[in-house]
Amino acid sequence: MKLFRITLSTIILSTVVTGCTYDIAIECHIEEVSYSNDITPLLDAKCGSCHSGFSPEGNLDLTTYDSASDAVLVGDVLSRITLPLSSDLVMPPTGGLSECDIEKITRWLNDGAPNN
Ligand code: HEC
Repeated sequence: MKLFRITLSTIILSTVVTGCTYDIAIECHIEEVSYSNDITPLLDAKCGSCHSGFSPEGNLDLTTYDSASDAVLVGDVLSRITLPLSSDLVMPPTGGLSECDIEKITRWLNDGAPNN
């Protein structure tokens, strides 16, 4: 019975440990954030429905490098995406950016928003 308990807790523990490592490994790569591979797909998926086309919301088009880098470097992107969900100004309005999305945008900003 004791052996069984030890075996069981070992299995549970290793599942937890590997589960964690696995999540981190697949979920967030911010070592090298690239505009074309990371930022464009993120902005398209999470912001593009409102911030694109002929009359983008807030008069902000996030689909071109020039406007997206400008919005991140000198505009309000970072402050708006890091507001609490209860705020009327949080972007996207329904929330929905993951920690990893925010880290990627922050990293891109800190790198000087390169067109890479
Ligand atoms: C469901 C529609 C919708 C989505 C999705 C959305 N936004 Fe917005 N956004 C708006 C509206 C409407 C405004 C204008 C009103 C306001 O400023 O809150 C706005 C305004 C903004 C502004 C301020 C613009 C300015 O200069 O005044 C920023 C910055 C912004 N959004 C960033 C984002 C980012 C980044 C995303 C994706 C992570 C995003 N938004 C997703 C609707 C949306």
